[in-house]
Amino acid sequence: MLKMMNQFLPMEPAQVDAALRSFRLIADDATERQRQPTLFDDTGAAAPTTTLVDEIVVGERTYKRYVNEFWTARQRGGHSLHEISYRACFKAELPRFFLSLLHPPHEKPVMVYDPFMGRGTTLLEAALSGFRVAGNDANPLSEILLRPRLEAPSLDSIVERLEELRLDAPVAEPEIDLSMFYAPGTLRQIMNLRTWLNRRRDLGEEDAADRWIRMVATNRLSGHSSGFFSVYTLPPNQAVSAQRQREINARRQQTPPERDVKAIILKKTRSLLRKLTAQQARYLRNVAQSALLMCEDAGRTPMLADESVDMVITSPPFLNTVQYAQDNWLRCWFNGLDAESIARRITVTSSLQQWRAFIGGVMHELYRVVRPGGWVAFEVGEVRGGTLNLDEVVAPLGEAAGFRCIGIVINSQHFTKTANCWGVDNNAKGTNTNRIVLLWKVPA
Ligand SMILES: C[S@@+](CC[C@H](N)C(=O)[O-])C[C@H]1O[C@@H](n2cnc3c(N)ncnc32)[C@H](O)[C@@H]1O
Repeated sequence: MLKMMNQFLPMEPAQVDAALRSFRLIADDATERQRQPTLFDDTGAAAPTTTLVDEIVVGERTYKRYVNEFWTARQRGGHSLHEISYRACFKAELPRFFLSLLHPPHEKPVMVYDPFMGRGTTLLEAALSGFRVAGNDANPLSEILLRPRLEAPSLDSIVERLEELRLDAPVAEPEIDLSMFYAPGTLRQIMNLRTWLNRRRDLGEEDAADRWIRMVATNRLSGHSSGFFSVYTLPPNQAVSAQRQREINARRQQTPPERDVKAIILKKTRSLLRKLTAQQARYLRNVAQSALLMCEDAGRTPMLADESVDMVITSPPFLNTVQYAQDNWLRCWFNGLDAESIARRITVTSSLQQWRAFIGGVMHELYRVVRPGGWVAFEVGEVRGGTLNLDEVVAPLGEAAGFRCIGIVINSQHFTKTANCWGVDNNAKGTNTNRIVLLWKVPA
């Protein structure tokens, strides 16, 4: 009986279809209550409705599409622990929606997997609900950003560790000129922190408090307010080149101000932990112990056992819309990572043919690791100025790998400039809709 209770009973496609058709966004606060769920047609006109279901023909196949405002465009609605920036991350509402859509209430899936985990939005959201997680990303920064948040050390342990740190010791000149970003005293603190953290890591002495401080510092390296170590620059997920920063400084007539690195780390720590309940912290620490976090090509993840995953919620790179490695050079420097070699591992291509081959390989790998009856929610968008819907490329690739495509879920909303996440240009080369291809592994 106990075994039965713990078993993952996946939703059947007919149940998912019914849930999607009858979906209505429920207002979850006063601001939301003033907004009715709406759909926007091609002209931008709003039409109040529940889900619009239509069909699209791709080659020989017809796919069902479900269009609605499935989750809110409101900012900061997710858990505070999500609030670190990463290029082209999705909102926590996206995985939350699919986690609740694809499993019946009170039945926890054994394992949620994200092969392109980025900052770890899917996995953190899943772990906050007590689901087990596995993740992968070709960029080693992903684990640096996610693992400490799964370990969720206490505020007291971070305060204590920060007090122990001596960040004012004289330092040698850095190997690269960073004076356009940092005042001399700030750079000295950053260099001391970097040396200390990397030495602890290299000696195998790094603990959860160190990893947390590394994660927060990585996130605070550069940004557009006094909450960051740097002078004003672009949002923190897209460090500009040294030359470009010099130009920004000249245009804004600014010089880098001195910052208190420890105070900034502590402030961000308090903010990240502010919504964490005692129960969530317990869930997270449990999950952290078993979390498998890999740094592989998503098409080849031999550490993940056959049919070990119940649900995949993920989003791959969209052709060449984002230069992940280039944007992360400062974060790589701080963490002692080689940005050039990471760049070679990350798939960025303007060729649709190459992208198709890449995603086809990933689909075959996902088919291997997903359990019969399990689900894949694969998020893509429209690219090339809205002329290419990548969901129409992905759906046939999922089917060629063996999955059945149950439909394409389109979350349609009027984004404000920053409603999705920094790094997605509104109405330009980025994406205005989330388009999720839903794939089901038919049980034998
Ligand atoms: C759209 S982002 C995922 C963002 C994530 N959903 C989040 O919320 O942070 C795509 C990710 O794919 C990673 N990536 C690119 N090529 C890859 C590959 N060949 N194998 C694994 N990961 C790859 C990038 O480093 C990036 O983090």
